[in-house]
Amino acid sequence: MARPWNFSAGPSVLPEVVLQQAAAEMLDWHGSGMSVMEMSHRGRQFVQICDEAEADLRELMNLPADYAVMFMQGGGLGENAIVPMNLIGRRGVPAADFVVTGHWSTRSHKEAGRYGDARIAASSGVAAEIGGREQRPFTWVPPAQSWQVRPEAAYLHLCSNETIGGVEFTDWPDLAELGAPDVPLVVDASSHFLSRPLDVTRAGLLFAGAQKNAGPAGVTVVIARRDLLGKALSICPSAFDYANVAAEHSRYNTPPTFAIYVAGLVYKWVKAQGGVEGLEAANKAKADLLYGYLDASEFYRNPVEPSVRSRMNVPFVLRDESLNDAFLQGAEAAGLLALKGHKSVGGMRASIYNAMPLAGVQALVDYLKEFERRYG
Ligand SMILES: Cc1ncc(COP(=O)(O)O)c(C=O)c1O
Repeated sequence: MARPWNFSAGPSVLPEVVLQQAAAEMLDWHGSGMSVMEMSHRGRQFVQICDEAEADLRELMNLPADYAVMFMQGGGLGENAIVPMNLIGRRGVPAADFVVTGHWSTRSHKEAGRYGDARIAASSGVAAEIGGREQRPFTWVPPAQSWQVRPEAAYLHLCSNETIGGVEFTDWPDLAELGAPDVPLVVDASSHFLSRPLDVTRAGLLFAGAQKNAGPAGVTVVIARRDLLGKALSICPSAFDYANVAAEHSRYNTPPTFAIYVAGLVYKWVKAQGGVEGLEAANKAKADLLYGYLDASEFYRNPVEPSVRSRMNVPFVLRDESLNDAFLQGAEAAGLLALKGHKSVGGMRASIYNAMPLAGVQALVDYLKEFERRYG
């Protein structure tokens, strides 16, 4: 069966071989006589699946032993509450700082305010002139030297890839250089997890919902430096207390077993692609192809400051927005799905995650060209 190209921002395209393997093992996992869905989360088969997924992820991300890996539920928005409940009180007075660069970091900041003093250290929520070009709000990243981080904050949060705005951090600053050596970085990496090497040791905690680059919806990966655990607020549910989850190797209560299993298959696929380094090269080639075409065209436009354009989520607008419906209808007819931009920004968005092959991006560029030829 020929499948269309799926540009959904998430849940999103998975490697076809992963879906095939999950299908082949659906009724009987490795001679166990059970589907993974039917196994006890404490039985030896699932323990093997879960431990192997963790080991593969550790290898892929080069994680040292002092970082815990936790497979949790609740998604990115769940972590917006779970992170502060675990960390915001760790230094006494509950306080955390936020770099706000778009929709998702705005929501993280707002949610954390329910648990303590959540303050904005820097924001790109205003227009700015960068490199002689006028940038609209949330299409740029404030330079690290301008961040006002409180040295006594429990942590500094940033979203390293804003899925809606298409803004990606290429680097994370050393907070010691910003006068806050004891403030760990908390990174929401949901939409570019495993798409490029990320040096987690420069952060205290990183989380990512799996449903973009790393598996199906239902599992959220949390990677945290162990010394930050064990200081949760007393209101934190015990099932969301990282100290409990880490101590029980993600099996404090019933984890999303099937989602962890599929995520584990995705990790093996990432290894077979040459790891995150291999995928980075492929992702760069895909992004260059798409941005290259958009930039050369007078008909389409990507609004993001070029140095922080996301390799994963590429928003673009048609100069004549009255053509939007025709564009989307034609795209679907051409087998290009889910190109509609997020409702908060409109326009179009192509999410070109790890599992989207170069051929899919080429098909999109061919369609962009053809549409421009007909309507431009
Ligand atoms: C960067 C980022 N953070 C958080 C979320 C929210 O994730 P969830 O819907 O799993 O709660 C999303 C969802 O798209 C996201 O892209």
